[in-house]
Amino acid sequence: MKLWSKGSEPEEIIEQFTVGNDRELDMRLARYDVRGSRAHIAMLEKIGLLTSDELTILTEALDEIAAEIERGEFTIEPGVEDVHSQVEFLLTARLGDVGKKIHCGRSRNDQVLVDLKLLALDDIRDIARAVKKLFDTLQSRSEQTKDCLMPGYTHMQVAMPSSFGLWFGAYAETLVDDARILAAAYGVANQNPLGSAAGYGSSFPLDREMTTRLLGFETLHYNSVAAQMSRGKTERAIAAAISAIASTVARLSMDVCMFMCQNFGLVSLPASMTTGSSIMPHKKNPDLFEILRGRCNRLQALPGELALLTSNLPLGYNRDLQLMKDILFPAVTDMIECLEMCDYAIERLQVNGNAIDASLYDYLFTVEEVNRRVMKGEPFRDAYRAVGLEVEAGTFHAERSAAGYTHAGSIGCLCTEEIRGKMMNVLRDIDGVL
Ligand code: ARG
Repeated sequence: MKLWSKGSEPEEIIEQFTVGNDRELDMRLARYDVRGSRAHIAMLEKIGLLTSDELTILTEALDEIAAEIERGEFTIEPGVEDVHSQVEFLLTARLGDVGKKIHCGRSRNDQVLVDLKLLALDDIRDIARAVKKLFDTLQSRSEQTKDCLMPGYTHMQVAMPSSFGLWFGAYAETLVDDARILAAAYGVANQNPLGSAAGYGSSFPLDREMTTRLLGFETLHYNSVAAQMSRGKTERAIAAAISAIASTVARLSMDVCMFMCQNFGLVSLPASMTTGSSIMPHKKNPDLFEILRGRCNRLQALPGELALLTSNLPLGYNRDLQLMKDILFPAVTDMIECLEMCDYAIERLQVNGNAIDASLYDYLFTVEEVNRRVMKGEPFRDAYRAVGLEVEAGTFHAERSAAGYTHAGSIGCLCTEEIRGKMMNVLRDIDGVL
């Protein structure tokens, strides 16, 4: 049975093909669908389309459905197209004619939009919390290891002294920029589309400010067509944020895999966090970081996938939009799982502060020697050349001190508190995270 059924039903194979796995995906929307309906009926009563008794009856029935959803007793029955239809069917089955009044002045097009926006706000908050947790761990690892030198590389060649403090801290500050994109996505999602109906509004005098207030949105998407166009835009904003965060986690994972390689020997994992080989008895592999790298690299395809799905769609609702749920919903879960695993592993990562003592790293300190001579009055280019010639002749002697680094953002001055301040400012824009 369909909400739109007027006597004839679609063929079974058409139904299966168009609905696909939408019923399962819609289960994530159920609680938001009920919230949207509650606000909608309160507004219908205010504009005189429901009596206050009808409002009470409908609100109680919606509360009951909400409780069933939380208890895991709610299902979308086979033959029912989606969550929106299921809720209306339940109301009509339980209340009779009153249930049939709820859909005045709305369409499943703005219903699904409002559900998706409310879910997006919750998802963004969950992602932001997971980002914050990893950020905190990276910052505390950075402070713990700030005096522990490690080699810095450029072009995969030995370059200049770095520290584990600088390395962990780099990923913490990079997460601040990713969080900015997440906060921007939150702003895009925080606009009420309810009342745009099928995409062109309604000739009922809907009070859209009232539903905006009741649902807790910051503002509304005023233009009904713009509200409909925000389906896809919102998802793409979230995808941009997920992709940015995933690129940071993937890169950090790559560093760990590389630094764990015996040729570097800079970090290690407790044996219980490594995996063995079926043939080589000595192996302790960093599969955990390889899977993190792979999953986070895949997540970076998200904006591309959504862009291809939604590019050049004609104005107004198109059913293609339904398929976005299948792309975005699993990606959100994936992102949070990856952030949590990364946090767990970074907390336990062991660093090797002695690795830098190997003679291989003598040349890390050539710039320090040049700078020392400059401080004594030698012009930079002359000092650079003299040290370069010593390296060529094999007579360069490394003095392994990195004491000169005092400027903001260098190994001697990590600015952990300043970076923390930036993160706090960014996260203040996402309600309920701090
Ligand atoms: N399952 C649909 C979606 O996600 C709900 C909206 C259906 N609207 C329609 N006119 N067919 O897009």
